[in-house]
Amino acid sequence: MTALELWLSRSIPACLLLQSLVLIMVLILPSSGMCPRGCNCQRDLHLHGLNVSCSQSRLKEIPPSLPVDTVLLRLDHNQIGSVPDQAFHGLWLLRELNLSYNTVETLGDGAFTGIEATLQVLDLSHNRITSVHKDAFSRLKARVIMDDNPWHCDCSLQQALGGMAHNHETTTRVLCRSSELRDQEGRPFLAVATDLCNITKRTTDYAMLVTMFCWFAMVIAYVVYYVRQNQEDARRHLEYLKSLPSKPKKPDEADDISTVV
Ligand SMILES: *[C@@H]1O[C@H](CO)[C@@H](O)[C@H](O)[C@H]1NC(C)=O
Repeated sequence: MTALELWLSRSIPACLLLQSLVLIMVLILPSSGMCPRGCNCQRDLHLHGLNVSCSQSRLKEIPPSLPVDTVLLRLDHNQIGSVPDQAFHGLWLLRELNLSYNTVETLGDGAFTGIEATLQVLDLSHNRITSVHKDAFSRLKARVIMDDNPWHCDCSLQQALGGMAHNHETTTRVLCRSSELRDQEGRPFLAVATDLCNITKRTTDYAMLVTMFCWFAMVIAYVVYYVRQNQEDARRHLEYLKSLPSKPKKPDEADDISTVV
């Protein structure tokens, strides 16, 4: 009995302490979300949400659980290499996203899914993006800053920029590092008047034509070779037949000659 009493007297306070800890965690966690490690979260009284600043935090990827009431997210000056699909899903209030000065090379097709309606500014400058999916920015209403990326100017970039008519001022600053067309390197993308989508189509068409022509030429060459070979054989066969002694015909021939004479 005394042993049980002793055990109870020790375990009941421990249980209560654990319960209250769990209660506190449950109350705190979902209300605002925890501020991610390496970030600084401050309540913005004008925008009624959180300013989350994770600048210069040596982040290699976008923090997985960002507070749901984030309105301003600064991720600049990190080592983030890609923006996966739905990276900001659930941030219903996000207005400004700064991803400048990172090492972003790829943007998922749905990288900005869920924040299209609220996002007003998206800074992707000073990254390593060469190309984007043609619909990457199509549903964004935000002003997208895309300067200082090693853009490869091709059909999909032309389509992506084409869907951003509202962004004309910022798209003029997109420079081609490399391009489908030779003379465009280093030039602003919008100065390129050519329809790059038609060009790629035309080059594939030409490639197709050349391949077909080659096949056709090979078939013709083979047919010619085959016919020649057979002709040669036939001639040789004929000569052989002619050279055979045809004795039973001799008298006829003689008759003929005599009649002619
Ligand atoms: C994003 O952050 C960079 C670096 O701090 C800054 O220069 C730039 O102005 C910011 N972009 C926007 C749209 O505020």
